[in-house]
Amino acid sequence: MEPVKVGLLGLGTVGGGTVNVLSRNAEEITRRAGRGIQVCCAATRDPYKIRSCNTEGIWLTTDPHEVVTDPQAEIIVELMGGTDVARTLVLKAIAEGKHVVTANKALIALYGNEIFTAAQKAGVMVAFEAAVGGGIPIIKALREGLAANHIEWLAGIINGTSNFILTEMRDKGCDFAEALLDAQHRGYAEANPTFDVEGIDAAHKLTILASIAFGIPLQFELVYTEGIGGITREDIDYAGQLGYRIKHLGIARRVAGGIELRVHPTLIPHRRLIANVDGVMNAILVKGDAVGPTLYYGPGAGSDPTASAVVADLVDVVRALTSDPENRVPHLAFQPHALAEIPI
Ligand code: NAP
Ligand code: HSE
Repeated sequence: MEPVKVGLLGLGTVGGGTVNVLSRNAEEITRRAGRGIQVCCAATRDPYKIRSCNTEGIWLTTDPHEVVTDPQAEIIVELMGGTDVARTLVLKAIAEGKHVVTANKALIALYGNEIFTAAQKAGVMVAFEAAVGGGIPIIKALREGLAANHIEWLAGIINGTSNFILTEMRDKGCDFAEALLDAQHRGYAEANPTFDVEGIDAAHKLTILASIAFGIPLQFELVYTEGIGGITREDIDYAGQLGYRIKHLGIARRVAGGIELRVHPTLIPHRRLIANVDGVMNAILVKGDAVGPTLYYGPGAGSDPTASAVVADLVDVVRALTSDPENRVPHLAFQPHALAEIPI
C-alpha cells in the first residue's frame, strides 16, 4: 500500500526531529500504523539553512499555504509555532479536509475551541500529544488510561526550560541568563523565551490538561500565571538550607464551586519525588478517585523526545484512517469537552 503523505509546517527543532524519527524507525512505525508515513513537503523560512535532518525527497517551500494545499498531503503537521499564521493555516488545512497534528500548545490553549469545532464539522482529526510534556504521553494517559476516573487534581513540572534553568542554577551555580542561553542552544526554549520564564508556556499547557481532566472549556485567561524570572541563586541556596527545592509547578484542582488553575514557583521538601525531577525532565502527578495518585515522567522538550509524541499522533491518525470512520478514536476527531460549561 502507498505510504500516507504528510506535509510539514516547520523544519526546526521538532520538525527536524520528526523527519529523523520517521526515517530512523520507519519499519516499526509502518508496522504499528498499518501503512508507511512519508513527508512529501515542508515549509521553512529559509530553504538553504543547514538542517539537522535529511531533506532528500522532501519538496521545500517558503510558502506554508503551498504545503496546506498540496493535494498529496493528507495530514498536515504544524510545527512552526506562533498563533496568528498557525491558526490560519490549521483552519485552512481543516477546511481542505486534512487531518492535523500539532505540537503548538499556545495555538491549542488559545484557539483550540474554534479549531476542534471546525474539525468536528469537517470530520477530520486534530491531535496534539506533543503540546504538553514533550515526549510524555500525558494526553493519552488522561483521556484513555484514566478514563474511568473522576480526576481530583493534577500538578507537575510542565516547562522543561524553567526546570533546566533552576537545576543549572542550583547544581552548577550558573546565573539565570547563562542557563537560559544553554536551554536555547539545546532547542528547549520557545522562539520567544519569555513564554518559558514568565510561566506563559506552562499556563498554556495547564489550560489543555485541565480541559481534558475536568471536562472544561479551554480558558487560558483564567490561569494564575507567575514564572521563574524573579528567582535568584540566593533563593535557591536558602531553600536548600531549609530542606526545600524550588520547582515551577502547574496545578489544577477542584475547589468548592469550580476549578483552580495556577502556575508559579513552589517550595517542595527535597525528599518528595517531584523535587528530584531535574534538568529538562517533566513530571505530572494526577490523582484519580479510582486509581489514586499516578506519576508521568520524561523529557519535557527537545528534538527527538517531542518528535516521539508527534509521530505517535501520526501513527494514531493513520490507524484511524484505515478504520471505519464511525469507529475512529473519538479524541482524535474532536475535543469532546471543549463546549462543556463548568465554571472555573
Ligand atoms: P523552531 O526550531 O523555531 O522551528 C520553527 C520552524 O518553523 C522552522 O523550521 C522555521 O523555518 C519554520 N517557520 C516559522 N515561521 C514560518 C513561516 N512563516 N513560514 C515558513 N516556515 C516558518 O521551533 P520548534 O522548537 O521546533 O517548535 C515548533 C513548535 O513546537 C512550537 O509550537 C513549540 O511551542 C512546539 N514545541 C516545541 C518543543 C521543543 O522542545 N522545541 C517541544 C514541544 C512543543 P526556518 O528553520 O527556516 O527558520
Ligand atoms: N519550551 C517548552 C519547554 C518546550 O521548555 O517546556 C516544550 O513544550
